[in-house]
Amino acid sequence: MKEPARHTVTAALPYANGPLHIGHIAGAYLPSDIYVRSLRQRGKDVLFVCGSDEHGAAITIRALKEGTTPRAIVDKYHALMGKAFQDFGIHFDIYHRTSSELHKETSQGFFLKLNENGAFTQQEEQQYYDEEAKQFLADRYIMGTCPTCANPDAYGDQCEKCGSALSPKDLIDPRSTLSGAKPVLRPTTHWYLPMERSQQWVDEWINTGMLDGVKHHDAGEWKPQVLGQCNSWLKDGLRPRAMTRDLDWGVPVPLPGAEGKVLYVWLDAPIGYISATKQWAKDKGEDWQKWWKNDDTRLVQFIGKDNIVFHCIIFPILLKLHGGYVLPQNVPANEFLNLEGRKISTSRNWAVWLHEYIERWPDRQDELRYALATIIPEFRDSEFTWKDFQDKNNNELVAILGNFVQRVFVLCHKYYGGNAPAAGERSDLDMDLWSAVHGNVEEVARHIDHFRFRDALSSAMNVARAGNKYLSDNEPWKLEKTDPVRTRTILANSLNIAATLSIVLEPFLPFTAQKLRRMLGINALPWDQAFRSDLVGEGQALGKAEHLFKPITDEEIAVEVERLHAMEPQQAAPAPAPGPAPGPAPVPAPVAKPNITFDDFAKLDLRVGTITAAERVPKADKLLKLAVDLGEASPRTVVSGIAMHYAPEELVGQQVVLVANLEPRKMRGVESQGMVLMAEDSAGKLVFVQPKDIIAPGAEVR
Ligand code: MF3
Ligand code: ZN
Repeated sequence: MKEPARHTVTAALPYANGPLHIGHIAGAYLPSDIYVRSLRQRGKDVLFVCGSDEHGAAITIRALKEGTTPRAIVDKYHALMGKAFQDFGIHFDIYHRTSSELHKETSQGFFLKLNENGAFTQQEEQQYYDEEAKQFLADRYIMGTCPTCANPDAYGDQCEKCGSALSPKDLIDPRSTLSGAKPVLRPTTHWYLPMERSQQWVDEWINTGMLDGVKHHDAGEWKPQVLGQCNSWLKDGLRPRAMTRDLDWGVPVPLPGAEGKVLYVWLDAPIGYISATKQWAKDKGEDWQKWWKNDDTRLVQFIGKDNIVFHCIIFPILLKLHGGYVLPQNVPANEFLNLEGRKISTSRNWAVWLHEYIERWPDRQDELRYALATIIPEFRDSEFTWKDFQDKNNNELVAILGNFVQRVFVLCHKYYGGNAPAAGERSDLDMDLWSAVHGNVEEVARHIDHFRFRDALSSAMNVARAGNKYLSDNEPWKLEKTDPVRTRTILANSLNIAATLSIVLEPFLPFTAQKLRRMLGINALPWDQAFRSDLVGEGQALGKAEHLFKPITDEEIAVEVERLHAMEPQQAAPAPAPGPAPGPAPVPAPVAKPNITFDDFAKLDLRVGTITAAERVPKADKLLKLAVDLGEASPRTVVSGIAMHYAPEELVGQQVVLVANLEPRKMRGVESQGMVLMAEDSAGKLVFVQPKDIIAPGAEVR
């Protein structure tokens, strides 16, 4: 592909409904920052764009919870996030916000153009309405009983207990979270994006990289899991998706007859990348258009995996239907980061919050940047533990990088009064050293270009490893007595490795790179200078032999782990279980439901059944459709929220206990005729409650 003239790099606009945590950072912001820093070192023209996503139910619900207004929420978190990014060394060219006037104009203009181009259809549908609060209810504003697991507090889009994906009409006994009232169905009209019309070109674009008969990008460069998610949508067939909502927080739909309607947040938010660019250009007196419209612009969008469909399918469709915009050349989405064996959860306060880390570990940004960069969930979910954070610091930053630099500086001060010595003739060993170093430098850039940041960092650290090995092999501290001339060469080479490190580590550890440059007395240098070996010349005055990093103690780590557990609402930290390592067992909730009479219990018809078939439910990540034999004329159809825990193939032949007289419920168009009993094991996996021995299907459970 032709070398692009400029790079537009975006990082997902985080919802302004809570602070940033390490999952956000490892998922989108640290990788994009490393990428941008590396491009800049290589002299590329780059625009790095981000901002707060300030619309949608994520915001209004948070406002409701905190007893305040959406405006107050977004103002608070926009400021908090902007500062945390800045403090952590993640410097966007602009950190904008979608509640700005410029964004409103931009997204309304975009919508009108789409409308003019015939991109939408209008459709009337029945939707839940709260007659007391006098408003239509977004999915998250409706709660009710989960048809799968009978959790009485399931949301209109999902049951957080069993993980089933739901739609509001699936809920039993729905209620409005605004007033508690029973919602009623009312007709409402919305603008839909008939995505099926774009099915063919999207498929071709994603899978071959061809767009309108021209090579657009190399499809082989996209991550397999990104292609996989896209193809699963494509395989199910793209369908119309509503692009407007009945809400009073958002960008108003700029058409007559659309009073009280706003743009769907996933229409308005990605346009936020464009309005952010406009704001930046306005501030700088630059042209915004070339960053989005010129064919020689390369657009790369960093996101987490829950954003894939929006960036790879919906937004590209919108851009193309609007016309005039480039499409992303890559969307290097990452998987999720877990924390100490569990999913990060804002609502359960199971997170390491970035602004709190910065407060408690002042001037230790690079320590966290390093630990996170080594575990970026590039191809599968990964895990942060405080212990690993300590290990990475002590065994890698201190022992490899810090130790190397420290030894070189101490010796240069001791032998040469803090002035760099001159390198003499090069030996074979020196040649080997530099070829190893420059080989690694090359690898760093190659890996970064392929979005393999973990490998890139490891190659950069190999430069420090090569330096340590060179010192150990040559032992200048011994050699000085017998061969001071050779010793000068060894230390001159070593100082120059430190200079190389200050360049190759800059994208990952910008604070440390700067410190190192100060110690060496050199300026920030462009990337190609990392291939030299004479950056620190004879006589150069060196700074003090500072420690770049300090060890982290067990006590410091214990404090963090305790804090994490103590921050959780309701439940105290799990008591350490006796016996073998307990692992991250979720704390079971105490028995909390009121007593029932025997008659209540007798109303349940529990039966043993045998699963005879299982398949996925299209468009529902979490649901499986099971056929369960109860010894009746034909097997029951049961929709169960276990797709994240079992592959369909594993299930045939398994015996289960079924609530056989649960009122049938339609889920995703499939009628479910019963509910399977499950328990959650210590790893959070749902397992069947089942008889120990095979029992005739239909046997009663009493
Ligand atoms: N706010 C969304 C999230 O946190 C991301 C929005 S990205 C954008 O998942 F493209 F819509 F801006
Ligand atoms: Zn449920």
